[in-house]
Amino acid sequence: MSEVVGATHQFHDAEYAEDWSQRFTPTPERLHLFETILQQLQSAIPADGHVVELGIGPAYLAEYLLARLPSISYEGVDFSQPMLGQAASRLDRFAARLQLKQADLLLDRWSSDLSRPPAAIVSTWALHDLGGQAQTAQVYQACASALPRGGLLLNGDFVRPDGTLLPFEPGRFEVGRHLELLQRAGFSQVSSLGLWEKEIEAPTASHNYACLLAIA
Ligand SMILES: C[S@@+](CC[C@H](N)C(=O)[O-])C[C@H]1O[C@@H](n2cnc3c(N)ncnc32)[C@H](O)[C@@H]1O
Repeated sequence: MSEVVGATHQFHDAEYAEDWSQRFTPTPERLHLFETILQQLQSAIPADGHVVELGIGPAYLAEYLLARLPSISYEGVDFSQPMLGQAASRLDRFAARLQLKQADLLLDRWSSDLSRPPAAIVSTWALHDLGGQAQTAQVYQACASALPRGGLLLNGDFVRPDGTLLPFEPGRFEVGRHLELLQRAGFSQVSSLGLWEKEIEAPTASHNYACLLAIA
């Protein structure tokens, strides 16, 4: 049997978290994902809206957005203290518009504990690490209940691409299934805005990430 496409992580370990962040500085393809998220925010949320990021990690997306949306406030959630430490350093110049919270997306009540009602919730490369479809669905439901009508969820995450025959770890599943789970969570409009670094035959754990848009 072929090897399962996926990765295991130790994000609570400071050395591992630092090494991960250095290995995964944004590539041009990933910057295109960030730009796609930015454009959605620019067109759909108030200039001074509140943006929440799930699994902020080293804050590459947060830095990109905070630099280009000068009036938003931002709240980053992660369960890893080492990652939150990296995010705090990277975002030092935005401290007046920033809150960082340590919480487990599955175990803690992060969605009812936000500092302001969010206009948008964003995430990249994080929700697949929750472990599977049921866990992703749980977070989609929490997002739907935290967002006001018209609020956006933008999830740029790893998926199992259509057409592959290979097994993927359970947190990486098809775009169509993501859209079903988002609809079931109560979002009124759901779509996929693109798929980056598509590789069906010989994918690594950093190929195949989509941008899923859901409007509450
Ligand atoms: C693969 S990293 C991606 C980091 C960042 N979003 C990026 O795109 O560079 C996944 C991040 O999600 C966080 N994470 C994973 N599972 C989590 C959970 N159950 N609760 C909160 N954060 C979690 C990890 O600590 C890590 O920072």
